[in-house]
Amino acid sequence: MLKVDLSDKVAIVTGAGQGIGRAIAQSLARDGAKLVINDIAEENAKEVAKEIESKGGEATVILADVSNKNAVEHMVRLTLEKYGKIDILVNNAGISGPMVPVQNLSEDDWDRVINVDLKGTFLCSQAVIPHMLENEYGKIVNIASIAGKEGNANMTAYCAAKSGIIGFTKALAEEVVKNGINVNCICPALIATELTLGLGEEQIKFLTEKIPVGRLGKPEEVADLVKFLVSDAANFITRQAYSISGGRSKY
Ligand SMILES: NC(=O)c1ccc[n+]([C@@H]2O[C@H](COP(=O)([O-])OP(=O)(O)OC[C@H]3O[C@@H](n4cnc5c(N)ncnc54)[C@H](O)[C@@H]3O)[C@@H](O)[C@H]2O)c1
Repeated sequence: MLKVDLSDKVAIVTGAGQGIGRAIAQSLARDGAKLVINDIAEENAKEVAKEIESKGGEATVILADVSNKNAVEHMVRLTLEKYGKIDILVNNAGISGPMVPVQNLSEDDWDRVINVDLKGTFLCSQAVIPHMLENEYGKIVNIASIAGKEGNANMTAYCAAKSGIIGFTKALAEEVVKNGINVNCICPALIATELTLGLGEEQIKFLTEKIPVGRLGKPEEVADLVKFLVSDAANFITRQAYSISGGRSKY
């Protein structure tokens, strides 16, 4: 488990109520960051905040749908009122949508996935950037997917959204490169979370066979990479899309 010093940092992690987001929030809090636990699932978010506080950390739950501009701006305002600054934003909230061929994908499902995954990343980044520019400091990590680099059949909306996140990351990184703000994204292969473990034994076996190391990733392994990228050890790293895929991704 990676250890860095985040003791004076304030971090927002979206979709932190379970899975990868929860592991990221716990990991950043363990190294001293004050955490905003964002989600739309209240009970889960409260549970994560309670876990962090029970270990001596600091966490605040702010419920907000990341695809809703007003809700996102409210979340950022509340964070600034409470903690006075935002050093770290992890855009993790995401949905995969139904697994169907493109001819069966409804416009509503397409919009839902694009709105949460891609527009949510845009809205949250847009809301924190003015503050980060003023402070001349910020670390943004977007959780994309290797599906956004390589494509997965029957997941066109998800793959489009995750590809979009990679492009958005690179463009934003370039806009703020001179302002002390680093923007990167992470592209995981299948990670063992509540969501993926519900796929069923057969599907998990099929997907695991695509991963050369022969197992699913762990949320804590993604959290370690996020933690490195938001630490000052990574000040020279920006505009990158890192795969964490057990060797599945070729780039
Ligand atoms: N698990 C994997 O194998 C995998 C692989 C590659 C990428 N990812 C990406 O990692 C991220 C987390 O995945 P996970 O497996 O932990 O998913 P998950 O479904 O377990 O958790 C996602 C969390 O986001 C929250 N959320 C959903 N919509 C939201 C919204 N509109 N606003 C705020 N919160 C919202 C959910 O309530 C949930 O707590 C996602 O962006 C996903 O696409 C996951």
